[in-house]
Amino acid sequence: MKKIIQGLGTTKNYLDKKIKWDKLTEILDSIRYAPSSGDLQNWKVVVVDDLENKKKLAKFSYDQTWVSKASVVLVVCNDQSEVKRMFKGKADFYSTQNCAAGIQNMLLRATSLGIDSAWIRTFNAERIRSLLSIPEDIKIDALITLGYAKKREEKVRVNELKNVVYFREWGNSEL
Ligand SMILES: Cc1cc2nc3c(=O)[nH]c(=O)nc-3n(C[C@H](O)[C@H](O)[C@H](O)COP(=O)(O)O)c2cc1C
Repeated sequence: MKKIIQGLGTTKNYLDKKIKWDKLTEILDSIRYAPSSGDLQNWKVVVVDDLENKKKLAKFSYDQTWVSKASVVLVVCNDQSEVKRMFKGKADFYSTQNCAAGIQNMLLRATSLGIDSAWIRTFNAERIRSLLSIPEDIKIDALITLGYAKKREEKVRVNELKNVVYFREWGNSEL
């Protein structure tokens, strides 16, 4: 598990190599096991694997052209309807966190299968909505690219644990 967690990193250079459906299914399946507020499981995923639409997703991600080179792009959607009923004003906050937990499951499962990925949030949601016929009341939370890296990037920056964790009170780094 430690190796998988440490092996997860953003990949923006993909080989022209398809992910097999059985592996993709494994990755998609992992979202179902993420924790969610009220157990509402408000995630939905649209799988985009045709070049024409991948190119459009790249364009709508403010010309992040590398997006179209991935084997597939997952469009992670957030169906807030039930969450709104249960959590009212906190729905946006909770439902986004639920989807983020699901995304992290998929990224870790992908890494464990030797598949590289990237998480993208810089995009024009309305253009993606219209391209993929995503209903008005469904939020688009992220795009996830999946594929095989030409070259795996080294982690650029990992914060030291002492700068992240405090003991017993804010700011105390002494164990
Ligand atoms: C919510 C979120 C949104 C992100 N959006 C983008 C993006 O639009 N484009 C991009 O190139 N990377 C994006 N990233 C990837 C981060 O830039 C990347 O995770 C960070 O630089 C650390 O690099 P690493 O993942 O290789 O450790 C996003 C990551 C997260 C979690």
